[in-house]
Amino acid sequence: MPENHPVDVVVVGGGIIGLAIAWRARERGASVTVLEREEQTGSATSHVAAGMLAPVAEVEFGEAGRRLLELGLRSAELWPGFAAELSLAAAMDVELLRSGTLLLARDEDEASELERQLDFRRSLGLRVQRLLPSRARDLEPALAPTLRLALEAPDDHSVDPRTVMRALRLACLAAGVHVRERSPVAALELDGDGGRVAGVVLEDGERLPAGSIVLAAGPWTADIAGLPPEASVPVRPLKGQILRLRDPRGPGLITRVLRFEGGYLLPRGDGRYVLGATMEERGFQALPTVGGVQELLRDARELVPGVDELEIEELSVGFRPSTPDNAPAIGRGAVEGLIWATGHHRNGILLAPLTAELVAGLLDRSEVESPNEQLLAACNPGRFLTRVPTHAGASA
Ligand code: GLY
Repeated sequence: MPENHPVDVVVVGGGIIGLAIAWRARERGASVTVLEREEQTGSATSHVAAGMLAPVAEVEFGEAGRRLLELGLRSAELWPGFAAELSLAAAMDVELLRSGTLLLARDEDEASELERQLDFRRSLGLRVQRLLPSRARDLEPALAPTLRLALEAPDDHSVDPRTVMRALRLACLAAGVHVRERSPVAALELDGDGGRVAGVVLEDGERLPAGSIVLAAGPWTADIAGLPPEASVPVRPLKGQILRLRDPRGPGLITRVLRFEGGYLLPRGDGRYVLGATMEERGFQALPTVGGVQELLRDARELVPGVDELEIEELSVGFRPSTPDNAPAIGRGAVEGLIWATGHHRNGILLAPLTAELVAGLLDRSEVESPNEQLLAACNPGRFLTRVPTHAGASA
């Protein structure tokens, strides 16, 4: 077992959250190692994600939904700058697809829901427009004539998460982050009285001491041993089936993201489309199902009959990391030196820039007070913990 020198920060998980944090922490001067369990970073949840930057569309009702919305709106503001900086750091283009989104209703119930969305978005000061079906079909002629109502949300954009993940890996390597793939973590190591993290133990027995550990293992967070239940954030996998489609005739079938009850159809701008996604409480059941795919195709074909001509390039299953209230857990918990960055549910891509900023700020020992206190309160892991933290600033 090699004797390793401690690094400042070990990030467990090389998805979009882990790599974005690693890059930002390294930029602030920390020595950082990322441990990724798969062959390559970004090959699990982030690889399957569609990449919508839509803070309102996927929030749920209630208190946790309000907190998630606050985080999502802030992170959406950060995305253009994040993409531009990442493009420079990785020496490759990370473009936001500024297509805007149409929200679609097929019947009266869905139309009432859109009216509610319209009021809600307006109350937040977001740009939104109510469109009669004829106007929506002027904008997107491929829409079916049976459409009942549409809203245009011109600022709901998207990115291609696979491009972002390639860029983040390059940016991390260029900055000097040590990226270790095929390195699954078995457990956290705590010091004698269990009040502080000392490092991690890999599945092959190797120990890596670290000043701070960031748990960004997404839906696999619960597999990492070493923490008592009262100091652990519960994270469950939420299965999603998703199709990647291609138009052999090239781009143009639709140009905006389309959202509808139960799914979305997202153009990549080059003749490729992402059709997603199911939401299934089935643990880590990794196989796609006839019912799931049929559900996605039925809705998309009803709204855009031209989907029939698209080729199926890929059918994949992903696992969103979800907490009991479906809002993320970002920040310190009950064990000193351990920072949670997990539970991003349907919003991992959207929330990556903000999560990275929040966590890098907490890791930066030169920062006396976090300027993001209010945002950290909105995703405080402490809401799930029953052990009282003993260290200063635990709730920040
Ligand atoms: N954010 C896309 C999804 O969860 O399906």
